Amino acid sequence: MEFKKRILCIGAGYVGGPTMAVIALKCPEYRIDVVDINQDRINAWNSDDLPIFEPGLFEIVKERRGKNLFFSTDTEENITKADIIFVSVNTPTKTFGEGAGMASDLQYWEATAHQIVKHAQSDKIIVEKSTLPVRTAEAMERILKMHSGNIKFEVVSNPEFLAEGTAISDLLEADRVLIGAHDTEEGNRASQEIADIYRHWLPEEKIITTNLWSSELSKLIANAFLAQRISSINSISALCEKTDADISEIAHAIGSDSRIGSKFLQTSVGFGGSCFKKDILNLVYISKSYGLYEVADYWESVVTMNEYQKSRFVRKIIKEMFNTVAGKKITLFGFAFKANTGDTRESPAIDITKSLLDENVRVTIHDPEAIENAKIDLKGIEKNITYETDPYRAAANSNAIIITTEWEQFKDLDYSKIYDSMEKPAFIFDGRNILDHRKLFSIGFNVYPIGKQQLTHFS
Ligand SMILES: NC(=O)c1ccc[n+]([C@@H]2O[C@H](COP(=O)([O-])OP(=O)(O)OC[C@H]3O[C@@H](n4cnc5c(N)ncnc54)[C@H](O)[C@@H]3O)[C@@H](O)[C@H]2O)c1
Repeated sequence: MEFKKRILCIGAGYVGGPTMAVIALKCPEYRIDVVDINQDRINAWNSDDLPIFEPGLFEIVKERRGKNLFFSTDTEENITKADIIFVSVNTPTKTFGEGAGMASDLQYWEATAHQIVKHAQSDKIIVEKSTLPVRTAEAMERILKMHSGNIKFEVVSNPEFLAEGTAISDLLEADRVLIGAHDTEEGNRASQEIADIYRHWLPEEKIITTNLWSSELSKLIANAFLAQRISSINSISALCEKTDADISEIAHAIGSDSRIGSKFLQTSVGFGGSCFKKDILNLVYISKSYGLYEVADYWESVVTMNEYQKSRFVRKIIKEMFNTVAGKKITLFGFAFKANTGDTRESPAIDITKSLLDENVRVTIHDPEAIENAKIDLKGIEKNITYETDPYRAAANSNAIIITTEWEQFKDLDYSKIYDSMEKPAFIFDGRNILDHRKLFSIGFNVYPIGKQQLTHFS
């Protein structure tokens, strides 16, 4: 079949895979190639066992794969043939040198820019899909200018706003698509060409076009604002535990104010995921680099509060279990950083597990999708860890259960059966406030929610 346009996506991860699958679904006249340096990942994309779990993704990939959606490691040939190249590689926090622990590590992103320079033989639109520091396009353009031929590259920013666990519906029913480009004739043309992709399924008013720098910075700011709401409600959860106020009642009361809104007011053991912490620290780093120290301090406190929430939770577990947890068995229900994903990057469960291991706890981990990633995260320190795919076996003989991920199925377990199989006194620490605490208490558990009154059988 003759395709109208060829789109290449470099980076077949949590963003590249689902985004391109949806574009392939909605734009059957475009050929979409997704490439990655990781052969295993590509093999998985070409199998029935996709490398990432995302509701609805498999059905779309199965429908379009081999028709107009192709996964391979053939970056060079695809660069040559593509009209539009999305760059969706990872941009983690730098772990070395200048800006270590804060700035973005742009080595993967820069490598793709050099590959494009090396293999391009015709004009192309380069789309920044990865989350990047503001003014990164400038550096990208500098590299692309190194091309020896008379080829024009137009760099456009099109950050991704999907959330893992709801990626497919976020893409299909996006609140908005953001496209940033230079305000020049070529820039506007490129911006419209990218908008044309999304017009296949989104109405015009959902497509926001801005200048390049606003688009790059908007993505960081969106994540900073979302994380800030979580840290704000989590800070109040600590105050609730001291005052007998109830965090759910507060969230409802304040969220009913249309100026505040009800979303992202769910307290928890802390946010995780590959983006929030990294993007805020990047924002902090950028602010500092412009000498804006007060701005940097303000946003850094969002991350500080998140660390506090995690360590506060572990301190509470130890204290409530009579300050002696050594040798006890504690079971984590959930290891993914949120429900409906197997992704464990920056999951609070990692820090909680490590803190418990430091206390010589025997830790059992149960998660419907994240056990393989948990094993990778905890490699080298697994001596006192067991992994269990069955929640009942995981809980048996434990002294405590910790809810670390808000998986729906954890609500429907038979907690009487679980209680009977546990050591007594039996504890539940609900780090997501998803369980029926009164019911658990009546079964016999000592129940510790977040930001709510604890229910215990101790006098
Ligand atoms: N995960 C999310 O929820 C999310 C949401 C919005 C934006 N983002 C941003 O999107 C970007 C990608 O995130 P992700 O979660 O998909 O990362 P990821 O680690 O899952 O995927 C990135 C992929 O890029 C590949 N890669 C690296 N260098 C390459 C190269 N030179 N050629 C080919 N492939 C290469 C890696 O092997 C990896 O498979 C990041 O900048 C992230 O901040 C992520």
